[in-house]
Amino acid sequence: MIETMRWEDGKLILLDQTKLPLTTEFIECTDYRRVRVAIKILEVRGAPAIGAAAGFAMVLAAKEASNRPDFVGTLDKMRADLITARPTAVNLEWAANKLYALAKKLNQEDMRPREIVPELEKLAIKIYNDDIEKNKRMGKYGAEVLPDEAIVLTHCNAGALATCGYGTALGVIRAAQECGKLKMVYSDETRPLLQGARLTAYELCEDNIPVTCITDGMAAWTMKQKGINCVVVGADRIASNGDTANKIGTYGVALAAKAHGIPFYIAAPVSTFDFSIQTGEEIPIEERKGEEIKQFRSEITAPKKALTFNPAFDVTPNELIAGIITEYGVVRAPYIENIQKLKEMSKED
Ligand code: MRU
Repeated sequence: MIETMRWEDGKLILLDQTKLPLTTEFIECTDYRRVRVAIKILEVRGAPAIGAAAGFAMVLAAKEASNRPDFVGTLDKMRADLITARPTAVNLEWAANKLYALAKKLNQEDMRPREIVPELEKLAIKIYNDDIEKNKRMGKYGAEVLPDEAIVLTHCNAGALATCGYGTALGVIRAAQECGKLKMVYSDETRPLLQGARLTAYELCEDNIPVTCITDGMAAWTMKQKGINCVVVGADRIASNGDTANKIGTYGVALAAKAHGIPFYIAAPVSTFDFSIQTGEEIPIEERKGEEIKQFRSEITAPKKALTFNPAFDVTPNELIAGIITEYGVVRAPYIENIQKLKEMSKED
């Protein structure tokens, strides 16, 4: 399985996803600021992978803060800086806040900063390991709801590369392949940064899972022509009513799925739910530079003078979602009630 990141001798080694599928290069991070940059420029991306990287970034930050007079105050400032790297994926603040809360608690218990750092390191490693285990559980639940001879359309990359391994939406696809249910995956290319073409197609090809690349504009027609019988995508933030933010283009895919009577599923761990917000209206949507639309890598693809609108995510309203596949099972409508139950069930996590 592709390794998105590893923690080695107190350093975070990240696979540079901006270079895929052409070259496999790694980035060595010894400073939380370098991890912040990697998150910002999508060298590491995908909500759960961003969360795990943020956990390790907090360990690096804590090491640095342990040499300062106000350990907790300094670490809090670093945490606040780190979580501004990308605003939509809630896993970023989820992981950073979790590590900060532990540091603060141990500090209140009179533990010295130098003793706190190894405890934070244990928690960051646990977040990483738990993610893979949760994805496998999610995969099992997801494979059960997929039809036999599944022809699945997915958008963006919610795979091993977007997590610590196995994937969320692609975890469901991997599990379906493992139990002989999968016929074909259609992967939207996912403009403007091509996570679908560069990353999803790449990791499925590596695992010999049948994948057909299409451009985003082909999704509705492909549903009609190619017998797609299920859509599974990932998520960056899910509100308490099930409204879900995911890569720009997901909303259009959900509308097209509805029009064709195809079930549209989200696959995401509980760490991607934001129980503090009621609806998708409250989800902050990241807007990125227009250059991402007007050029690809160094290739200019639109006039310099043209204006741009480049939201990185959109929100799919809950009524378009057939179910949310989590590590605790599949959550279905009525979402407000059932997401509340999920919150209670996952409290120990
Ligand atoms: O901008 P990206 O590549 O970070 O966007 C990623 C997505 O939208 C994924 O679908 C989402 O984070 C889920 S990853 C398991």
